Amino acid sequence: MTAPPTAWVFGTGGIGAAVRDRLTGEYRTVTFDRADDPGRAGAHHRVDLRDRAALATAARDAVLRWGPPAVVVLAFGTVSPATVEDAGPEDVDRVVGDNFVGCVNVLHVVHRTPRPDTCACLVVSSNAAQVARPGQPLYAATKAAVASLVRSLAPAWAPDGVRLVGVLPGTVTVSRNEERVRRQYPHAPADPARPGGRLVTPGELADFLAGLVPHAHHLTGQLLTYDGGSTLGAAR
Ligand SMILES: NC(=O)c1ccc[n+]([C@@H]2O[C@H](COP(=O)([O-])OP(=O)(O)OC[C@H]3O[C@@H](n4cnc5c(N)ncnc54)[C@H](OP(=O)(O)O)[C@@H]3O)[C@@H](O)[C@H]2O)c1
Repeated sequence: MTAPPTAWVFGTGGIGAAVRDRLTGEYRTVTFDRADDPGRAGAHHRVDLRDRAALATAARDAVLRWGPPAVVVLAFGTVSPATVEDAGPEDVDRVVGDNFVGCVNVLHVVHRTPRPDTCACLVVSSNAAQVARPGQPLYAATKAAVASLVRSLAPAWAPDGVRLVGVLPGTVTVSRNEERVRRQYPHAPADPARPGGRLVTPGELADFLAGLVPHAHHLTGQLLTYDGGSTLGAAR
């Protein structure tokens, strides 16, 4: 019996954990996050993704143990209200580091890792990349940068067998934002203000991401907004 292919999931917060759980079984999942996961010793790497050298070491270890990845999901980052006028240099470094530099590092390391003939990289950005976000300007800018990276790398890396798809979710209810969601959406999980009528759950987003993998050849370079139409600006 052949072993299932390997999937690397970066970020084990609300969305990353749902992706890990959705892929496990069909794939051998290896996770990376700066939080520990003692229950997954050997299959989890505690690493700050801003640290390229540490990430490269973790990736080498993962390849030795579990083989190269056929699927890579980038589902980490830091949502932040930091503004240009108020944020100090450390705040700026944190937002840019966690949301953008971390993605550059992960993709750099994946590109240098021996891979199967094709490798599908699903990059979770945000619908904040597409609209003005006066309350989260730095966060939104980093998410736009990540989306741009997906578009530029898709044609550049296609000959190397790497496919890249950007997924731009709207609000996904996770434990980090539960309280805010309750305040902002009194009818949650319903949201009558958006065309789709309700908020996204981590499990739904994980299903969507998993369903993209077989189609990554035809979708490479695409940015897929998954937000129930909340950023359409439709008049009601
Ligand atoms: N949930 C939403 O509504 C939503 C909507 C659109 C887009 N997104 C995006 O989806 C991604 C995941 O969101 P989420 O809701 O699952 O967030 P989450 O629950 O806060 O999980 C994010 C995870 O990424 C980790 N992380 C952040 N920077 C890291 C780094 N440099 N190195 C290693 N680990 C790092 C975090 O660790 P710490 O806890 O230590 O920070 C956390 O474990 C983020 O990029 C977010 O912007 C989320």
